[in-house]
Amino acid sequence: MREKIVAGNWKMNLTKNEGLLLIDSVVNGLNTADVKVILAPPFPFISDTVSKVEKTTISVAAQNCHQTESGAFTGEVSAVSLQSFGCDYCIVGHSERRQYFGEDDKLINEKIVQLLAKNIKPIYCCGESLEQRQSEEHFEVVGEQIQSAFSGLKREDLLKIVVAYEPVWAIGTGETATPKQAQEMHAFIREKLSQVLRDEAENVSILYGGSVKPDNAKELFSQKDIDGGLIGGASLNATDFLAIIHSF
Ligand code: PGA
Repeated sequence: MREKIVAGNWKMNLTKNEGLLLIDSVVNGLNTADVKVILAPPFPFISDTVSKVEKTTISVAAQNCHQTESGAFTGEVSAVSLQSFGCDYCIVGHSERRQYFGEDDKLINEKIVQLLAKNIKPIYCCGESLEQRQSEEHFEVVGEQIQSAFSGLKREDLLKIVVAYEPVWAIGTGETATPKQAQEMHAFIREKLSQVLRDEAENVSILYGGSVKPDNAKELFSQKDIDGGLIGGASLNATDFLAIIHSF
């Protein structure tokens, strides 16, 4: 049985007080243990978030990490450091990292290897651009992203990864993939994973991300291969984020 997961990726938008209040509101308002909730705050909040969720079922994710274990990379954060602060997950390959920081699947593969070595579960994001969707290359693009990012990983590694399908044209734009478009891609991703995992591909959680809101979450999450969401904008508001979680 795969886990249902809702992860909040609240990016760099909040001050200290706003961020801490948001975490408290989510912790206090959560009323289900059926969904795995993951908070992915910016780095400065990691330590406080870990303390605040300590007695709950909520887990903490980082939004990025460096691909090497240690070294002189000013401004970067290592997986070993994240692990020591109590991070259970780390987002890798977010489209904003790909687009603005030039990350490709080869680099993302190195980050995944690094995270797995430190027992941190990667939340691997993939997804096509608007042009790629319009020219009907979306399956090919996502297939290649996965092929390259997961290259060399063993069965037991793949089972630790959470996949997030995030069509670039739907992130932060208010445009959402239709439940049918998302389901189709999720089924394709699961099929792709089954080439290595066989029946165990059924155990991998595949999240949808891209303008998930309280009013569209239920329909998206009711699709057979959609196991939850990676939530950006709506995770900045505790009421909306909780409504999305509770819409399962
Ligand atoms: P969004 O962001 O929900 O604001 O579209 C999703 C994400 O950044 O992962």
